[in-house]
Amino acid sequence: MVGHNLTILLVLVHAVFGSAYRWFNWQYEVTCESDAYIAPVDEDDAAKFLQEQFAVGSHIKVVGNGHGFGNLTQCVDQTLTNKPTYIVSLTNLKDLNIHKDNMTVTFGAGWDVDDLAQELKANNLSFNNLGVERVQNFIGAASTGTHGSGSNIGNIASQIIGLRVLDSQGNLRVISEETNAEEMKAFRISLGALGLITEITIKVQPTYRLKKTTKVLNATSDYSQMYTQIAELYKEHDRMTVWGPHFDWNDETQDWDLEATYFYSYWEPTDYMGASNCTLNYCANGCGDCVCSRQFYAEIEHFIPIEYYAEAATNYTLFQQSQTPRMKAPYNQQMVIQHRTLKGDDTYMSPVNTYNLKPELSGIFAIIEIDWLQEYDNFATLWQNQELAFEFLPRFGEIYNARPHWNKMNAPNATYIQKIFPKLPEFLAIQQRQDPKCQFVNDFLVSQLGITHCAHYLS
Ligand SMILES: Cc1cc2nc3c(=O)[nH]c(=O)nc-3n(C[C@H](O)[C@H](O)[C@H](O)COP(=O)(O)OP(=O)(O)OC[C@H]3O[C@@H](n4cnc5c(N)ncnc54)[C@H](O)[C@@H]3O)c2cc1C
Ligand SMILES: *[C@@H]1O[C@H](CO)[C@@H](O)[C@H](O)[C@H]1NC(C)=O
Ligand SMILES: *[C@@H]1O[C@H](CO)[C@@H](O)[C@H](O)[C@H]1NC(C)=O
Ligand SMILES: *[C@@H]1O[C@H](CO)[C@@H](O)[C@H](O)[C@H]1NC(C)=O
Ligand SMILES: *[C@@H]1O[C@H](CO)[C@@H](O)[C@H](O)[C@H]1NC(C)=O
Ligand SMILES: *[C@@H]1O[C@H](CO)[C@@H](O)[C@H](O)[C@H]1NC(C)=O
Ligand SMILES: *[C@@H]1O[C@H](CO)[C@@H](O)[C@H](O)[C@H]1NC(C)=O
Ligand SMILES: *[C@@H]1O[C@H](CO)[C@@H](O)[C@H](O)[C@H]1NC(C)=O
Repeated sequence: MVGHNLTILLVLVHAVFGSAYRWFNWQYEVTCESDAYIAPVDEDDAAKFLQEQFAVGSHIKVVGNGHGFGNLTQCVDQTLTNKPTYIVSLTNLKDLNIHKDNMTVTFGAGWDVDDLAQELKANNLSFNNLGVERVQNFIGAASTGTHGSGSNIGNIASQIIGLRVLDSQGNLRVISEETNAEEMKAFRISLGALGLITEITIKVQPTYRLKKTTKVLNATSDYSQMYTQIAELYKEHDRMTVWGPHFDWNDETQDWDLEATYFYSYWEPTDYMGASNCTLNYCANGCGDCVCSRQFYAEIEHFIPIEYYAEAATNYTLFQQSQTPRMKAPYNQQMVIQHRTLKGDDTYMSPVNTYNLKPELSGIFAIIEIDWLQEYDNFATLWQNQELAFEFLPRFGEIYNARPHWNKMNAPNATYIQKIFPKLPEFLAIQQRQDPKCQFVNDFLVSQLGITHCAHYLS
C-alpha cells in the first residue's frame, strides 16, 4: 500500500503547507483547486503514479495548455470530494523520432504545437493542418479536434496513426492504425476521458509552399446575399478563411455597426521559390510566427454540413442582432463572425463525423464562429456574452445538424450529443474499460456525454 501511504502523506503535506494547486485556463474563467500538480518524468513514472492512485480512486485531470473556453479541462475541485484530486501534465515527455522513410513522426505528449511545427520545418516536414493559434499542447489540440480551414483536409486528429495510452490502473495500451483501426477512431479525439496519452505517431508531409491571397469584400446588411456570396467562394477555393463580417460596438446607439468591408484569404500551392513575404495578421494562418493577443472573449464555433451554410449563417447573424438589446454589460468592443470549412471524418467523437449525414450531403462541413471581444477584461461582460453564446445551439442545432467544437463553450445535453455522435456508446464502452472507477471524469464529461456509470463519481 505504498500508494495509499504516499497519498495520505501528500494530503498531510498540503494541509500543513497549503501547497494545493489551483488550475486556470488561458483566460482565467475556468478554474479548480487540486491537491497538487503532477508532472511525471516519463511514461513509467506516470504509470506508477496511476497505479498508486487507482487504489485510492483519486480524481485525475490530464491537461495540455488550457487553451479552451469551457469546463472540459477542469479538475474535480477539492471542495467537492474527500478523495485526492490532481492535475497531471505530461510536459516532460519530450521524445521525438522522425521517420523520413515512411513519413511519420513519433513524439511524446510534452510537445506543443508551435515547437513541433518548428522542429518539423527544420526537417522539411510539416503536418497538414493548424488552427489560428499554435500555443496548444499537440495532444491537447488533437484531443478536441482542432482544425484550420480546408474542404479537403481533416482536423489535426485525423493525422494520428498510432499512440500509447495509460489507463487508470497504469496499464499501457499501444494502439495503431494497422493493428487496431477501429479503436483508433475512439482515441484520436478522446477528450482526456480515455486515459493519459503518453506518445503519438502522426503522418507528415514534405513542407510545400502555399500562396496566400487576401481580398476585400463589401459588407451588406442583406446577410443572405452576403453569405450566399461566401458559399459561392467556397466552391472556388478549398482552403479559405473568411474574416468577417466585423461589427463594432457603438456606445451611443448601444448597437453593433457593421463595418463597410471584410476580407477573406485563400491559400493555394505555388512553385514560387523566392523569399517569403508574409502578412502576420490572424496569427498562424499567415505564415509568420506570432503570439495572439490575450483578451477576454466569448466564442461559439459550430460545424454545419456545408449545404446548409448560407441559410444557417444568415439565421445565426439575425439571431445575434435580435439579442443586441440585452447586451447591457459595459466594455463590448467588437463582434467577429468567421467562416472556415473542414473535411468530414470517421472519428467517434469528431464534430465533423459523417455518421448521421443524409446521403445527399457531401461530407464537407462549414464552420461558423462568432467571437464577442471586449475592450476590457470584465467578468460581467464575459458572462453576459457566454450566456448568449449558449443559446445558439438549442435554437439551431437540430435544424442544421450543428455540432459544437469541444473545449469551446457549448452546453447542449446528453440527448443531443448522442444524436450528433452516433458512436458515443462505443466510445463510452472504451471509457468504462479505461477508467472503471471514473477517476478521469469531471462534471462536464459526465453531464455532456451522459456517462451513467459515472453518475456518482463524487461519492
Ligand atoms: C484563443 C484561442 C484560439 C483558438 N483557435 C482555434 C482554432 O483556430 N481552431 C481550433 O480548432 N481550435 C482553436 N482553439 C481551441 C483549442 O485548439 C482547443 O481548445 C485545444 O484543445 C486546446 O489545447 P490545450 O492543450 O491548450 O488544451 P487543454 O484544455 O489543456 O486540453 C484539451 C483536452 O486534451 C486533453 N489532454 C491533454 N493532454 C492529454 C494527454 N496527454 N492525454 C490525454 N488527454 C489529454 C485534456 O484532458 C482536455 O480534454 C482556440 C482556443 C483559444 C483559446
Ligand atoms: C463551469 O464550472 C463552474 C463551477 O466550477 C460553473 O460556475 C460554471 O457555470 C461552469 N461553466 C459552464 C460553461 O458550464
Ligand atoms: C516507420 O518507420 C519506423 C522506423 O523507421 C518504424 O519503426 C515504424 O514502425 C514505421 N511506421 C509505419 C507506420 O510503417
Ligand atoms: C530541406 O530542403 C532544402 C531544399 O530542398 C535542402 O537544401 C535542405 O538541405 C533540406 N534540409 C533538411 C534538414 O533536410
Ligand atoms: C465595393 O464598393 C465600392 C464602392 O463603394 C466599389 O468601388 C467596389 O468595386 C466594391 N467592391 C466589390 C468587391 O464589390
Ligand atoms: C511584400 O508584399 C507587399 C504586398 O504585395 C509589398 O507591399 C511589400 O513591398 C513586399 N515586401 C517585400 C520585402 O518584398
Ligand atoms: C432560418 O431561415 C429560413 C430562411 O430564411 C427561415 O425560413 C427559417 O424560419 C429560419 N429559422 C430560424 C430558426 O431562424
Ligand atoms: C438538448 O439540446 C438540444 C440542442 O441544444 C436542444 O435542441 C434540445 O431542446 C435539448 N433538450 C433538452 C431536453 O434540454
